[in-house]
Amino acid sequence: MRDEITSIAIEDYLTGLMPERPEAFATLERNAHEHGWPLVGPVQGQFLYLLAKSSGARDALEIGTATGYAAMWLLKAIAANGGMLEAIERRPDRIALAQSSIASAGFSAHFRVYQGEWFSQLSLLTNTYDLIFLDILRNLTNEVDSLRALDLCVPLIRPGGLLIVDNVLCSGLVLEDDPAPIVRGIQQFNRAIMRHPEFESVILPVRDGVALCRKRDS
Ligand SMILES: C[S@@+](CC[C@H](N)C(=O)[O-])C[C@H]1O[C@@H](n2cnc3c(N)ncnc32)[C@H](O)[C@@H]1O
Repeated sequence: MRDEITSIAIEDYLTGLMPERPEAFATLERNAHEHGWPLVGPVQGQFLYLLAKSSGARDALEIGTATGYAAMWLLKAIAANGGMLEAIERRPDRIALAQSSIASAGFSAHFRVYQGEWFSQLSLLTNTYDLIFLDILRNLTNEVDSLRALDLCVPLIRPGGLLIVDNVLCSGLVLEDDPAPIVRGIQQFNRAIMRHPEFESVILPVRDGVALCRKRDS
């Protein structure tokens, strides 16, 4: 999917500047392009990797892992730290794909995936994380779920930890006065993170909009 939050030409320029990726990453990019699988792409992947690396993240969680592409970028940093990426995904076919891609990249020992609905799986987690990547906002089915997801994530993030959220500009639909319910949910989500007492946040117009929220230390 191409979103004109910036411009297609700028996105292509930024992608063109990216150094060549290892084979496992490049193969998945090609296959995703061919089959229309959802993934963040190399520019946002590099952004996730740099955030995980520069924050020294060891324990991370991805909600909505699909093919494991974003997971591989996070794992590039996390595995080097001896850490673990846990992931939630409801589709078994995508889990199989993610596991196979992550095995090709050599990160299997650092990856654990839970199959099921985000809400039930998230409610079962007792670990806390240095970094959570929330990538299901566009898949939610009603107005209230994005705020429910935020409420469930907050206690799972350690002080100083990061919440990174994709698709917060939703192809620019957040600009509408009376949008569809899931877009209204994303508008509420954006307002909530920007004034949340436990976070300092910024929303960047990268690809479909990425939010970066740091949980306060005290
Ligand atoms: C945008 S894709 C994730 C892309 C991935 N993070 C990447 O960039 O490589 C969202 C994923 O969330 C999954 N998903 C959607 N709704 C879900 C739900 N209710 N519970 C669990 N997973 C869900 C979808 O099956 C899809 O694979």
